[in-house]
Amino acid sequence: MRGKSVALIVYNSTRIENVSGLRLERRAAVLAVWGAGFLAEWRVEMAIAERNWRGSRAALLVNVAVLFVCLATQAVAGFGQGLTGRWVILGKTLDNGEQPKSIVELKQNGAELTGTMKNPDFAVELKGTVTGNHFEVFAAWGPTLPFLVGDLVNGELHAIERGRRPVVATPATAADDLPKVSYIEPPPLHNVPSNGLAKTPPMGWNSWNLFESRIDDQTVRAIADAMVSSGMRDAGYIYVNIDDTWEGVRDAHGNLQTNHKFPDMKALADYVHSKGLKLGIYSGPGPRTCAGYPASYGHEEQDAKSYASWGIDYLKYDWCSARNIYKNDQLQAVYQKMGDALAATGRSIVYSLCEYGWGGVEKWGPAVGGNLWRTTGDIRDSWSSMIENVEKQVPTAPYAGPGRWNDPDMLEIGNGHMTDNEYRTHMSLWALVASPLLAGNDVRAMTDATKAILLNREVIAIDQDPLGKQASPVKNGDLETWIKPLADGSVAVGVVNLGPASAQATVKAGDLNLGGPVKKARDLWAHQDVQFKNGAYAATVPSHGALLLRVSAK
Ligand code: GLA
Repeated sequence: MRGKSVALIVYNSTRIENVSGLRLERRAAVLAVWGAGFLAEWRVEMAIAERNWRGSRAALLVNVAVLFVCLATQAVAGFGQGLTGRWVILGKTLDNGEQPKSIVELKQNGAELTGTMKNPDFAVELKGTVTGNHFEVFAAWGPTLPFLVGDLVNGELHAIERGRRPVVATPATAADDLPKVSYIEPPPLHNVPSNGLAKTPPMGWNSWNLFESRIDDQTVRAIADAMVSSGMRDAGYIYVNIDDTWEGVRDAHGNLQTNHKFPDMKALADYVHSKGLKLGIYSGPGPRTCAGYPASYGHEEQDAKSYASWGIDYLKYDWCSARNIYKNDQLQAVYQKMGDALAATGRSIVYSLCEYGWGGVEKWGPAVGGNLWRTTGDIRDSWSSMIENVEKQVPTAPYAGPGRWNDPDMLEIGNGHMTDNEYRTHMSLWALVASPLLAGNDVRAMTDATKAILLNREVIAIDQDPLGKQASPVKNGDLETWIKPLADGSVAVGVVNLGPASAQATVKAGDLNLGGPVKKARDLWAHQDVQFKNGAYAATVPSHGALLLRVSAK
């Protein structure tokens, strides 16, 4: 009996397989097996003891004592450590046939849970708590939302990742590992000559905000058609940009192929060009993009050549997995590498840096050949996200100018989760801060209101003003006033009502630096001239709405 007990303990610390082949590791399951074994053995032992009571009494007592010591040891070691281990999460199969993996390593100490989650895109330190089978762990960078929250169920972790993605983690085997990436030293810094593009903020459309991975050749063609038929192209929206998830795998020569959704990128570029539009594409300096597809790490020149040979006109280059390899003080050198590679192709390709505003990009973006750079994390189709993004880039204002633009991310106008007033404010603010105007909606099916916002040429003219100044805000209670000097000496002034109720906004001519009394003032949403009286103009601005004027002394 003592021998059997020892065998059970050894068994408990190894992985077991159930009949269906599903791996069940974890002490809860094992404890149950162990407990059942213990009871069975106890009954057998009692029967034996019954028969041999006299002769075996001493031996029985020893065996019972051993059993209890074993049970106590198991309880101390087992409870409070049930989540400890190495787990694997298999992601959804990508459009290029690859299946990404994340490895989660956890250590449970009573109610405390610590560990890491790693995949080719990121590595994150986790810290949190366990209550019974329920656990919650937070990442250092986002303490408000649990990074993983879930339960231990039959030896698996059933969880929600970052509040949105349901995941199942099973015990990892030795074969479950992440691809090894060798370090490539970034080049010494130098100035990449300007490509002379984007003298005004780039305008166009991007697939990510609405379509995410549901984008393909046919949809891009239909969007291009709609850009023409809706009047978007003629209003200046020229770039049709394919974001993440177009990528296939690399061929034997390392050339990145497209996946099945984009059977012929050159033919697609030809089609888009035939409509008087330009085609954009997406990659990043790390081994993987944010959606887990192959990116340009170690293949910069090769990829730039492919883009040029396909007829690509715009590249959005997204940091993503590069953060697992490089530090923020290497951002410039890493982005310079692709800047050089694009320049070497001889093709005019707008270079859009996407690294969420890290490392003072507004200061060195032009030196790497960049034309625009994100200043924030991803926008969402919500009032708070939109306002947060535009306000975050206030400190970057002095660095904007022709050929070098701060980018608070793509437009959400028409995607349905803000009111038309809020979308008008979104458009007004993006124009005032000279942001790129990349529509992120389905231009094939726009409401009249959406059209009237995106196609408001008077507002577009504020964004596209050749002076290229980025407005900064002045706050007065719930009202925020943004003033943008324009090339012809006039001024754009926007008053945004951040509050929950309508408010009276007063624009004072004296605040506008016009160099003379107001001669002409126009409300760019009402499309009508307005009168300044006694050096001021007053209007009611609805909650979350914006008053947008163009004012001139000439
Ligand atoms: C990042 C970017 C987004 C989008 C996605 C695609 O999150 O910031 O704009 O490009 O990657 O995976």
